[in-house]
Amino acid sequence: MKIMSVVGARPNFMKVAPIIAAIKQQNETTAASSLLEHGQTILHHVLVHTGQHYDRMMSDSFFADLNLPQPDVHLDVGSGTHAAQTAEIMKRFEQVLLRERPDVLLVVGDVNSTLGCALVAAKISFDGFGTRPVIAHVEAGLRSFDRSMPEEINRILTDQLSDLLFVTEESAVRNLTNEGIPAEKVHFVGNTMIDSLLSCKARAETSPILDNLCLRNTRAHNNNASHAIRRYALLTLHRPANVDTREALLNILNGLEDLAKKCPIIFPAHPRTQKRIQEFGLGHLFEWPHEFGDGTQERTAQNALRIIEPLGYLDFLCLMSHAALVITDSGGIQEETTCLGVPCVTVRENTERPVTLQVGTNVLAGITAQGIRDAIRRQRQSRAMGTVPELWDGQSGVRIINVLTREFRNRRMDPSKSAPQTDAETMRAYVGVPRASQTAVTL
Ligand code: UD1
Repeated sequence: MKIMSVVGARPNFMKVAPIIAAIKQQNETTAASSLLEHGQTILHHVLVHTGQHYDRMMSDSFFADLNLPQPDVHLDVGSGTHAAQTAEIMKRFEQVLLRERPDVLLVVGDVNSTLGCALVAAKISFDGFGTRPVIAHVEAGLRSFDRSMPEEINRILTDQLSDLLFVTEESAVRNLTNEGIPAEKVHFVGNTMIDSLLSCKARAETSPILDNLCLRNTRAHNNNASHAIRRYALLTLHRPANVDTREALLNILNGLEDLAKKCPIIFPAHPRTQKRIQEFGLGHLFEWPHEFGDGTQERTAQNALRIIEPLGYLDFLCLMSHAALVITDSGGIQEETTCLGVPCVTVRENTERPVTLQVGTNVLAGITAQGIRDAIRRQRQSRAMGTVPELWDGQSGVRIINVLTREFRNRRMDPSKSAPQTDAETMRAYVGVPRASQTAVTL
């Protein structure tokens, strides 16, 4: 079986890495045993990077941190408006799909690359009879019920196009049922982004980032020098609704003013956000790192809103694990903080990840300065650690590969046929191409 997976933007990398690891693990088990003789196939994997994110710190560094193989295909699409970016992804991806003809196309999350590639696969025909890959969506069914978010459109449409839907929490199962997706297509497997977090956590502890940002105190305690970590908060903001107008951004910064007097707020700023801060003339509200001629940075320990460049995965994970509080408008960080037991304030009116509110450490602040101040106060007073949601246990990638191979094998070994079906027959049976076409091809 040939599986093609697609990554495009920063949050995709940690979702795909555990699936690639699970493929490798299954192939090793298959090769080392007699499973090959019992119909188990070797899984071939092709990794496609659309290039939606292209900066070193938004893309390349993640490949190293997550032990991801280099992409087999790079589409180099870069930035653009939603229409231009999605169209460019589709044009370039169609050629790759026709050349590679995978059995399964695996897309993750809710970015433009997710929808663009799923849409190409849904309409492609490898042979004129409708043979196309089985489309599998990882992180299906999440809904904010806010269609002004581009990601919500991407989620709804990708789910409608998918043949297999892998979900991270119960709310997603309910949402898909309500949208008429048949239950047999939906598999509750847990969260592959949490697989990455759990497998990288120990390595993240070796990151030098706390020292680099002067977040460690050296104190003499009972004659032992202990390296206590200072209280600090961590901030990320990149959502267009929050950073693309001066008013919205200023509101949020006002809401953070009191906290910045009490502790450093470390702010690894997304390129979009950095650009807006400059355009809106808001640079004076931040403490910027001072670079010396040799590339090293001035060390400062002061309480302030301290802006830094985007971080790699391990450095960011280390900072998040030790933060007293995380303030964010990201989707994934709401889940990661819940898993780590770190309090999180989400600067949005809604979340597509309600389990982080119900059992985790997340609260919604809204986007007003007062709402943010109140949520920060509530989180600073609260001692609740939350609990880790069901199946967020580090095994989600393995579950996905188990489902994929089981489904594919069951259909290949259709008991109504005298011999195993070919790959093309299996795919057509899966995606529901009418019988007449199937017969035409078989002949
Ligand atoms: C995208 C995703 C969003 C995700 C976010 C994570 C969509 C619709 N949005 O938003 O769901 O949470 O990634 O970061 O797919 N830029 C660079 N260098 C880069 C990438 C982007 O400078 O490597 C700048 C460009 O000016 C670009 C802007 O950032 O125009 C926005 O990038 P884009 O990929 O369009 O969307 P994100 O805001 O990153």
